[in-house]
Amino acid sequence: MIKAVIFDLDGVIVSTDQLHYEAWKHVADQEDIYFDEKINHRLRGVSRMDSLNIMLEKADKTYSESEKEKLAKTKNDYYVDLLKQLSPNDMLPHVYDVLLNLKEQGIKIAIGSSSRNAKTILKYLGISCLFDAIADGTDIENSKPAPDVFLRAAEKLGVSYSSCAVIEDATVGIEAAKKAGMLAIAVFDAKKSEQADHKLDDIRDLLSIV
Ligand code: G6P
Ligand code: MG
Repeated sequence: MIKAVIFDLDGVIVSTDQLHYEAWKHVADQEDIYFDEKINHRLRGVSRMDSLNIMLEKADKTYSESEKEKLAKTKNDYYVDLLKQLSPNDMLPHVYDVLLNLKEQGIKIAIGSSSRNAKTILKYLGISCLFDAIADGTDIENSKPAPDVFLRAAEKLGVSYSSCAVIEDATVGIEAAKKAGMLAIAVFDAKKSEQADHKLDDIRDLLSIV
């Protein structure tokens, strides 16, 4: 029986893809590195430093660790500034109703996100207080496809791993959920994952699964 649903944040609750893209593009242009939407697509669910390493695959030179730290900071400063434009209206369709419905049924809800900005994003969306637990990039060493963030979320909730469902838009997130021994529910791009237990066209269909 499912006792908790762990939501990925970026791409499930809110679409930040474009903002990540603009911020990475800003750094790539500054360094004269080719970067496009297709490369940005590969950064879904991947930690900031892992994302940077993917972005640098097209670079002509090798960057030292301290140079990489600087680039990651430049990207994040730019991104955090863009996040200021977020408001409750940016929540993806029907997400808010689904969250409320789960709570009414007594099912716990948590965030399991690789982002170190998760709490800031939730604040701008005005939904921080809805969640029983938040596990994010600040809680873990290894980002998705490692299961760490979902295991951490379940521990914070006090719910066994096998009683958790995860909802994800990234194939690496589905992989992470299965490694954690959880029910893996895919939306958007994650529907191409062969490991997904369920594939939803509409997030409201989650309510008939749990
Ligand atoms: C999410 C996004 C990724 C992003 C990662 C780290 O998982 O899907 O695209 O790279 O978070 O985000 P951060 O806000 O910590 O840079
Ligand atoms: Mg995502």
